[in-house]
Amino acid sequence: MNVLVLHGPNLNLLGTREPGVYGQTTLPELDAGLQELAQGLGIALESRQTNHEGVLIDWVQGAEAEGFTGIVLNPGGYTHTSVALRDAIAAIRLPVVEVHLSNVHAREEFRRQSFISPVSRGVISGFGPDSYRLGVLALAGKR
Ligand code: DQA
Repeated sequence: MNVLVLHGPNLNLLGTREPGVYGQTTLPELDAGLQELAQGLGIALESRQTNHEGVLIDWVQGAEAEGFTGIVLNPGGYTHTSVALRDAIAAIRLPVVEVHLSNVHAREEFRRQSFISPVSRGVISGFGPDSYRLGVLALAGKR
């Protein structure tokens, strides 16, 4: 089991970005927690962040060839806009778990539509950094 965690746009600002919505945990802290979880589960895990849609698509397309067996993806704002990212996920064989820190259904109406959910194995939304942890556990089969 080799999990790729992908953080989309603006998630590099965690800690200072709208802390009332996204909490005070920084991205390095979140990633360190995931690394610890993976070690405890005896699985490999790598985290990456980008603000660029095309880079996310390149990482999704290349994940299997890079040796990953599943992807935990927070697409950020691209969740609600990106047909191209959706098509990339539909094109690969690896399972993708869509995660969100906030509960996207309890916010603005435009956040209720996800281009990513229909092509994802599952969706976890609203549990802060635990959304990612639950995503890793789901891929690891520890539900
Ligand atoms: C988010 C929710 C999105 O609507 C938003 O654009 C983000 C973060 C979340 O983790 O709650 O950037 O994906």
